[in-house]
Amino acid sequence: MQIRNVALIGGAGFVGTHLASLLSERGIACMVPTRSRERAKRELLVLPTVSVVECNIHQDADLDAILAGADAVVNLVGILHESRRDAFERAHAELPARVLAACQRAGVKRFVHMSALGADLQGPSRYLRSKAEGEARVLAAGATGVDVTVFRPSVIFGRGDSFLNLFANMLRLAPFIPLGSPNARFQPVWVEDVARAFADALANPATFGQRYDLCGPTVYTLRDLIEITGRTIGCPRPIIGLGKTASYLQAFAMEFAPVKLLTRDNLRSMSVDNVCNCPWPEIFPSQPAHLEAVLPTYLQCARNRSYDEYRSRPRR
Ligand SMILES: NC(=O)c1ccc[n+]([C@@H]2O[C@H](COP(=O)([O-])OP(=O)(O)OC[C@H]3O[C@@H](n4cnc5c(N)ncnc54)[C@H](OP(=O)(O)O)[C@@H]3O)[C@@H](O)[C@H]2O)c1
Repeated sequence: MQIRNVALIGGAGFVGTHLASLLSERGIACMVPTRSRERAKRELLVLPTVSVVECNIHQDADLDAILAGADAVVNLVGILHESRRDAFERAHAELPARVLAACQRAGVKRFVHMSALGADLQGPSRYLRSKAEGEARVLAAGATGVDVTVFRPSVIFGRGDSFLNLFANMLRLAPFIPLGSPNARFQPVWVEDVARAFADALANPATFGQRYDLCGPTVYTLRDLIEITGRTIGCPRPIIGLGKTASYLQAFAMEFAPVKLLTRDNLRSMSVDNVCNCPWPEIFPSQPAHLEAVLPTYLQCARNRSYDEYRSRPRR
């Protein structure tokens, strides 16, 4: 099976930009739909084999246009916070089913879908339940002639992430960190390892019909991750771990902020360990990178930051 053209739905975000860059390096053309080309990252727009087009993927006609001529579709659409009550259901369950139907209309035989570690129809949060619903809908595709692979990563870190970068920004500003769910456990995986797994799976028939959990080599608590981030950027801060009730009150208060950072649904997701109970899948040969080796490559130390900012202004 040869893959030359990929429709990368949800490809203008963090993971999508890294995956598009890798596919482009491999000479694969990517069609990336977005709601706003203006907001797309410059590094995505300049990739040689990548076209970023503004459209509404919730409309079948737009979806059909994106899939025309594609050999494979990758679906990366996902949200962490709901802007309206049915937003998780719409993005994580309905859209994958509609993309699958569009694959059938367009004769696209390959579909790689992004879910999330811990996705579970009985899970504690609406996020995890809706991701499980999406997985179930696309994996039921067996009879449709579309070969599906599902990936379920733990939290993903790397250049442009909104997880450790968010902590880094908080640490730079705040004298101490009041932290909800400090003992929540994660097994973060590097975005480049995730992108490589997606790219390698595309043309590999052994991955058809499979589901892969993706984790890095080490389990950390949320408190560990903030401490490591603080040390990396040269801003270690005291962390005050909040109990269960205080964590929920904090998340509830944050739901009213203009920019959503944390919700009670996120806390419910964190009430179950976000760790793999299996090793890195053997079918993807390179071993996943260590967080502490990668972090300094993209989180700047406070001492160097101002120099870089000065340099970036005149685009040097
Ligand atoms: N980052 C992580 O730690 C992590 C961990 C596990 C799983 N995942 C999953 O990995 C996928 C990619 O994550 P990411 O971090 O790259 O997310 P991201 O940067 O927020 O990008 C998400 C993409 O989804 C699209 N999207 C979101 N809501 C949409 C909507 N209502 N209609 C149309 N498009 C919509 C966005 O399109 P626009 O360009 O139009 O804005 C964007 O390109 C998601 O499915 C996420 O759940 C992520």
